Amino acid sequence: MTVRLKGEMKVPGDKSISHRAVMLGSIAHGKTVIDGLLTGDDCLSTIDCFRKLGVEIHLDGEHVEIEGKGLEGLKEPSQFLDVGNSGTTIRLMLGILSSLPFHTTVIGDESIAKRPMGRVTIPLKEMGAKIDGRAEGKFTPLAVRGGGLKGINYNSPVASAQVKSAILLAGIFADGETSVLEPENSRDHTERMLQEFGGSVETKGLKKTVRGKQTLKGSSINVPGDISSAAFFLVAGSIIPGSEIIIKNVGINPTRTGILDILTNMGADITIHNVNDQVMEPYADITVRYSNLKSVEISGDIIPRLIDEIPILALAATQAEGITVIKDAAELKVKETNRIDTVVDELKKLGANIEATEDGMKIYGKSNLHGAQVSSHGDHRIGMMLAIASCLASGETHIQNTEAITISYPGFFEQLEELKQ
Ligand code: S3P
Repeated sequence: MTVRLKGEMKVPGDKSISHRAVMLGSIAHGKTVIDGLLTGDDCLSTIDCFRKLGVEIHLDGEHVEIEGKGLEGLKEPSQFLDVGNSGTTIRLMLGILSSLPFHTTVIGDESIAKRPMGRVTIPLKEMGAKIDGRAEGKFTPLAVRGGGLKGINYNSPVASAQVKSAILLAGIFADGETSVLEPENSRDHTERMLQEFGGSVETKGLKKTVRGKQTLKGSSINVPGDISSAAFFLVAGSIIPGSEIIIKNVGINPTRTGILDILTNMGADITIHNVNDQVMEPYADITVRYSNLKSVEISGDIIPRLIDEIPILALAATQAEGITVIKDAAELKVKETNRIDTVVDELKKLGANIEATEDGMKIYGKSNLHGAQVSSHGDHRIGMMLAIASCLASGETHIQNTEAITISYPGFFEQLEELKQ
């Protein structure tokens, strides 16, 4: 018999919100206090970069205090700015560096070196930033000399919050107005938080506009739990017989809740309670109980609302009756790994009936999973998906490279063990 998962838990702070709180606090005037910050490696990279830019940041567990001196308070660093594995750090920070009238060099790890940066450096250069690097500034290492930006109207070819945010963060210090039009809505944490720091952003359908020369004021930010981390337990509770898990304080920003919609359509037993939507970022408690799942199609404008949850949804689909089709998700190829390949290859090793397609995957449920030797490929979300799969698989599963999980979820294995009965 497999284990079942039972109990109450709280997931770490939201990664997207944590990055933005540190960045906006670093460019605002006055003190910013953050509670519930994610202390995963990615957010520590953001803190490290802004400290190297001369910002005073005090970190005490999940409590952070930042002594903001405005954009003018940032100083030319004597060292490289190393973003580690973090796509959000590099892309959003490039937006800020583009306004700074000095030289910075940005580097990251092997995965970052493969990820496309042209999607932000091309529009930032159009605004007037001088950015050079590998393949004419499309890949790290990147050298930036910013300042003197002018606003642009940018028609983004991808629905990406990182692209949108980089341009808006450059736009708030540029001359004139800057707008970004997306093909579909991406997560809107930057827009919400800019307003919390006294800035302004106008939304008209899929178009976001900021005026230039804004001044931000320090703020107090409470970071809710990360729904992308809760996702592993929402799926675990749904597919492991006899499970019942209550997850407290999970962020339910509607641009992030695609996972709840899809699991509900699959027949999952999910209840949302204690909703607080009177705050910058709404949150709630979520209860999940085991149930029989059925297949669904996951495509179209829901994709940006669940892009990071596709690896764990693929595992859910292996336990659902019928064929689950995931399409319009080619963005998966440029995440921490090519997540179409890593999900398909690793789940196949565990006995799943799954195939890769050009822009997603097809999963034929339901399969009995069995233990095997698998790898995270250095991708935190692949590592956690495999750890949940191993709870269901017969025999032993060995997962290589689980250290990557601390990127977004320190304490993941301890929490999983505590739920096991
Ligand atoms: C993020 C946006 C998404 C997401 C990433 C975090 C953000 O990336 O996959 O994990 O915080 O803005 P894209 O903007 O590239 O889609």
